[in-house]
Amino acid sequence: MTDRRILLVIGGGIAAYKSLLLIRLLAKAGVRARAILTKAGAEFVTPLSVGSLTEDKVYADLFSLTDEAEMGHIELSRSADLVVVAPATADLMAKAANGIANDLASTTLLATDKPVMMAPAMNVRMWLHPATQRNYHRLLADGVHFVGPDDGAMACGEFGPGRMAEPEDICAEILKSYDARAIGQPLTGRRVLVTAGPTLEALDPVRFISNRSSGKQGFAIAEALARLGAHVRLVSGPVALADPFGVETVRVESAREMLAACEAGLPADAAVCVAAVADWRPEASAVRKIKKGADGPPPIALTENPDILAALSKAGKKRPRLVVGFAAETNDVEAHAKSKLARKGCDWIVANDVSGDVMGGDANEVMIVRASGVERWPHMAKSAVAGRLAAEIATALGH
Ligand code: C5P
Repeated sequence: MTDRRILLVIGGGIAAYKSLLLIRLLAKAGVRARAILTKAGAEFVTPLSVGSLTEDKVYADLFSLTDEAEMGHIELSRSADLVVVAPATADLMAKAANGIANDLASTTLLATDKPVMMAPAMNVRMWLHPATQRNYHRLLADGVHFVGPDDGAMACGEFGPGRMAEPEDICAEILKSYDARAIGQPLTGRRVLVTAGPTLEALDPVRFISNRSSGKQGFAIAEALARLGAHVRLVSGPVALADPFGVETVRVESAREMLAACEAGLPADAAVCVAAVADWRPEASAVRKIKKGADGPPPIALTENPDILAALSKAGKKRPRLVVGFAAETNDVEAHAKSKLARKGCDWIVANDVSGDVMGGDANEVMIVRASGVERWPHMAKSAVAGRLAAEIATALGH
């Protein structure tokens, strides 16, 4: 345990005091922290308080001869398992996103070959500013893992996203990253198909039928599978989410396009159908915009869409070894899930009750229905559902 070591970069924000608590929580969990305190960070917490908690020297100056002799900044960036930036200020994020290296913290972030985790903390307007959002998305694409920011009251009297995640949550994320490393990448060499989001079924060039699926659960599953080493092809309907890191993302609109993109992704070892595919589409999509006329509203004749989950389950020789479906129900969840399992021919159904705020929300409470029985999972974040499901898929595919 004692050889677990992180490098903690403490930026300049009022939330810096929470990082002191983070160091203590980590120590209790058997993770040692070595700290870099930025110049601005030192305005909020003193090197003495940080050093007392890390029981180590606190690094602050890029051009310190003694520091470089003891431990050069390159070595500092590599001696830890993980680099954690908390609080990650708008300034630190901007530097990291653009590869600017003009002090010890930013130089270390550029020189490291270790995973980086950031816990942003800033005023809500700074967080929502297009420049910060641009940097955030760029860092996500670079593989930086984010914890928070949380919504809530800020020291400046405003309210909204920008509060640093609680030290307990950051500590839990750090411990999770150690767990993931312990698991390793059991899905290396496996191909997995994931469908996500709604489908959009055109009525004419400007109108369509669709639903409120956000794609969050499917994207989280794709990302979790990729983290375990799988080659993931994510086929998504229109959603407002960025391509997950390390995932082959194919964007489609209609159910028929989604089916074609899935079939083009075969053979696959597993398929996870999370998409909320529209059950019906207009029988015909008008070539020109349907005009308002004297006859009143035009009738909309609907026809059934292909069932992608059923098609993959019955793909003969090309059938993925494991096919997982989702069932969103508002009542009699278990009974409906069981009949769906039989009807669609898939191996597992992940069933949830969507009578609350699951659609579009960040949390989910699911049960896994298999021919062998039902397993209930507690209420958890969609990302946690994704992580656990990915681990179960790895076990089922055998590693
Ligand atoms: O029949 P129902 O829509 O409730 O089934 C839900 C499951 O089936 C989900 O896994 C969904 O992704 C999948 N499905 C599909 N194609 C459809 C309808 C549903 O893949 N046309």
